Amino acid sequence: MLFYSTRKRVDRMFIELISLALALLLIAMVFIPVLLTGAPPVPTSFSVRTALMGLLPRRLPGPATGVIYELGSGWGGMALKLAEMYPDHQVIGFELSPLPWLVARLRLAVSGHRNLRFRLADYNRQDLSNASLVLCYLLPDLMQNLQRKLAAELTPGTLIVSNTFAFRGWRPLDDRIADDIYKSPVYLYEFGRTEEA
Ligand SMILES: C[S@@+](CC[C@H](N)C(=O)[O-])C[C@H]1O[C@@H](n2cnc3c(N)ncnc32)[C@H](O)[C@@H]1O
Repeated sequence: MLFYSTRKRVDRMFIELISLALALLLIAMVFIPVLLTGAPPVPTSFSVRTALMGLLPRRLPGPATGVIYELGSGWGGMALKLAEMYPDHQVIGFELSPLPWLVARLRLAVSGHRNLRFRLADYNRQDLSNASLVLCYLLPDLMQNLQRKLAAELTPGTLIVSNTFAFRGWRPLDDRIADDIYKSPVYLYEFGRTEEA
């Protein structure tokens, strides 16, 4: 009897330890990448997504081979919507944070979109020269580096959409204010037309 209850207590402790280790692993999978990238995986809200989609044309300029890149695709919500909206284009989401990336992969498997990929990768290390549309929702510090990268790689006519933060010195082609509590702005740029001299 005594042996049985001691055994039960050891089993319970073991289960508690495993649960704690799993919880810590999940927390680390979200917070360590935030320390590395400086951008938490906050998803675009429904209202902001609606404003963003309202900025985008029904057909993207350039050839259908032009790729749509989401730089920091988080939990996958935006990229899934883009894959649905532009079925003729390949959509690629780059994400450095493993847990959001994993969730996005699961959402993709359920949705069945064939024109969408989520890659666990740093967008800074990718060549974006074949883009027809680039989306981002990043913090201002990251935007400055990204702006240099886009200026070096994109071809004129490529569309760029930024959630909340504007690119310094670039005049947007269009912008909207989302109907959320922060009244978040969203910006549309066309590379080659919106840079100021
Ligand atoms: C504010 S969230 C936006 C998520 C998603 N784009 C959305 O709108 O729902 C920014 C995301 O960018 C990712 N990120 C930041 N720097 C990155 C990098 N260099 N490469 C890939 N992902 C990055 C972060 O991990 C985070 O998930």
